[in-house]
Formats: sequence, structure tokens, C-alpha cells
Amino acid sequence: MYTGIQHLHSYMTYLVLLGVLISFGSALAGMSGNRPFTDGDRKRGLLGLIPAHLQWIIGLILYFISPLGASNFSGAAMKDSVSRLYMLEHPLTMVIAVVLITIGYSRAKRMIGTQGGFKSIAIFYGIALLLILIRIPWNAWPGN
Ligand code: HEM
Ligand code: HEM
Repeated sequence: MYTGIQHLHSYMTYLVLLGVLISFGSALAGMSGNRPFTDGDRKRGLLGLIPAHLQWIIGLILYFISPLGASNFSGAAMKDSVSRLYMLEHPLTMVIAVVLITIGYSRAKRMIGTQGGFKSIAIFYGIALLLILIRIPWNAWPGN
């Protein structure tokens, strides 16, 4: 069970990065294209939102079954940078990133027909992408 969820979380990371990048890139292109945000543009926002939401749930499950997650929470682990990354920094940063993506999508959805939708996705997904990139455990991922 643990190994399966761990692998799922690891593979899903490709989809999250790809989806958020496509949503972000299309929003940037839309912004410079001087045209209104359409329902098709909203759906391109879903390419980032859906894998991010799925990853959120998988990560949460992993957090409670992994020896590196909640069960490792202690003052001693807090002093070790790798332990602190898995038990605190990674989960917290990723939750913030997913919340930002959700806010960006949610605002954009209400701006169909205007240009604001592109800006909402570009800003919120852009910050989220940065947060994701700085707190992926690069020492372990993509691994082998
Ligand atoms: C955008 C969201 C997220 C991305 C892209 C992401 C990505 C990753 C990656 C690449 C790894 C390393 C996997 C490996 O060793 O091959 C990892 C591990 C881990 N993640 Fe996430 N994660 C996300 C969200 C979360 C959330 C929300 C939580 C918990 C609430 C979480 C908990 C964990 C834990 C506990 C591990 C260590 C698992 C282990 O090796 O035992 N992740 N994550
Ligand atoms: C299996 C996991 C999940 C999937 C596949 C998923 C998928 C989606 C999709 C497709 C939407 C967009 C709906 C729309 O177009 O309006 C959405 C919206 C949303 N999701 Fe998730 N979700 C998941 C889990 C979660 C969880 C666990 C939470 C919160 C704890 C959450 C919170 C939200 C919120 C607040 C929105 C609203 C965005 C808006 O205003 O439109 N999701 N989700």
C-alpha cells in the first residue's frame, strides 16, 4: 500500500508539472494575444487544476502512511533538513500551491468574456509553479 501510493505520488508529479506549465503558458499567450478569455481557455486551466487536486489527496494519504510524514514529526526531526522537508516544508508549501491554483482557476472562471481570466491564471498558477519547484524533494525525484 505504502509503496503503491508513493509511486503514484511520484508519477503524478510529471502530470502536475506538465498540466500547470500548459495552463500557465496558455494564459501568458492569451494575455499577449489581446482577446477575451473563453470557455476553452477555462478548460486549459483545468489541465493544471485537476492533476494538482488529485496530487493533493494522494499526498495527504501518503503523509499519514509514510515513515517520513506525520509519524516522523518531532523536535529532533525539525533540526534535520531532509526530515523537515518531508514532514513539514513539502506538505505545507504544496498545500499553499494547490490553494493558489484553485483561487486562480476560480477567479478566472468568473471572468469569461473579459481579459482578466488570463491574468488570474498567469499570476496564481505562476506563483504556485514556483512554490512547487522549490519544494519538490529533488534529492529523491525523479529518482531511478
Ligand atoms: C503539487 C503537489 C505535490 C507535488 C508536485 C509533490 C511531489 C512530490 C515528490 C516529487 C516527492 C518525492 C517522490 C519520490 O521519492 O520519488 C514527494 C514526496 C512526498 N510528498 Fe509530495 N507532492 C505534492 C503534494 C504533497 C502534499 C499535499 C503532501 C501531504 C499533505 C505530500 C506529502 C509527501 C510525502 C509525505 C512524501 C514522502 C513520501 C515518502 O517517500 O515516504 N505531497 N512529493
Ligand atoms: C480526487 C480529487 C479531486 C479532483 C479530481 C478534483 C477536481 C476538481 C475540478 C475538476 C474542479 C473544477 C470544477 C469547476 O470547473 O468548477 C474542482 C474545483 C474545486 N475543488 Fe477539487 N478535486 C479534488 C479534490 C478536492 C479536495 C480534496 C478539495 C478540498 C478540500 C477540493 C476543493 C475544490 C474547490 C474549493 C474547487 C472550486 C473551484 C471553483 O471555484 O471553481 N478539491 N476540483
